[in-house]
Amino acid sequence: MTLSNLVPANAEMIGRAAELIRKGLLVAMPTETVYGLAANAYDDRAVARIYTAKGRPSFNPLISHVSGKDMAMELVEFNAWAHRLADSFWPGPLTMILPKAKDCPLSQLALAGLNTPSVRCPDHPIALALIEACGVPLVAPSANLSNTVSPTTPAAVFESLGDKVDLILSAGKTEVGVESTIVDLSGEYVTVLRPGAITVEMLEDVLETKVYYKNPATDNSPTAPGQLKRHYATQTPLRLNAVDVKKGEALLAFGRITFMASEEYGAAKDMPEGTVLNLSLIGDLEEAASNLFSYLNALDKVKAMSIAVMPIPNTGVGVAINDRLTRAAAPKEQ
Ligand code: TXA
Ligand code: MG
Repeated sequence: MTLSNLVPANAEMIGRAAELIRKGLLVAMPTETVYGLAANAYDDRAVARIYTAKGRPSFNPLISHVSGKDMAMELVEFNAWAHRLADSFWPGPLTMILPKAKDCPLSQLALAGLNTPSVRCPDHPIALALIEACGVPLVAPSANLSNTVSPTTPAAVFESLGDKVDLILSAGKTEVGVESTIVDLSGEYVTVLRPGAITVEMLEDVLETKVYYKNPATDNSPTAPGQLKRHYATQTPLRLNAVDVKKGEALLAFGRITFMASEEYGAAKDMPEGTVLNLSLIGDLEEAASNLFSYLNALDKVKAMSIAVMPIPNTGVGVAINDRLTRAAAPKEQ
């Protein structure tokens, strides 16, 4: 295996990436949330390659990444809510689900049989430059094997997908760290299907209407495709809301751990190096979100009995962090 598919995201490599995408191949691109595995959203064969590379069930739809509102409006019917949200939050970590536009050219496979595609304009210069260079929307799920933690670094993309991806545009660690907020605007009510950095309160402020949040971990009604209870899983089980550390456990900390006990070492602060990672020493939720997936991956490699995770406040982007942690901790469904 070579590392030759991992390249710096400079102008030359963006050009090469666009050529590959036009040929129906796959390129991992940075976005502000996580790295995405991008393909031409109009090309069924390219989209099929995404499902194969990720080992993802093909009933799970893909988000189309656009360079702005104009491109989005070729794919979906904008309503008043959509205009407001796009004007306020695009480019940015917000995905909108809307009714399909007339003559929508999206790959049927990417839609997974739905009449309501999802669109998002990412806030990252490389992603935007790549979409512009391709001249078509790019479908891009997170660039990892299905059911594993989303990649926030180029190295994590390479570890998960290796040479199943034709080119990885490398541009350091992503800023936000959790995937985009997904909001369904296709029905009578506004509903958040996946929480992210754009919170329910932020959406309500702009829309001046009630925004519902459907939490798949606690809601037993039929779930949208992909909103599975167990997702983002590590190999090592997670123990959430931990107030101490049991024997054989690693620790994913949040805030100060001065007074936290460890069964084996007395105090958590005396645990061996590498078995404790702190999402944010100062208790900053945005910093914690940006570190979440890379720290989960790093602690997974320790091969501990389980990972104790300290409580995370359920406000702001903390709602998204808790959503990902809850689903990573959910028992395997057979
Ligand atoms: O931040 C993000 O959104 C990242 C970056 C790369 O843009 N992308 C991402 O895509 O997280 P993915 O495929 O890993 O997660 C998208 C989720 C899936 O659970 C999928 O089922 C759901 O969104 N989804 C996509 N389109 C949908 C649609 N039209 N209706 C309902 N759910 C949809
Ligand atoms: Mg994903």
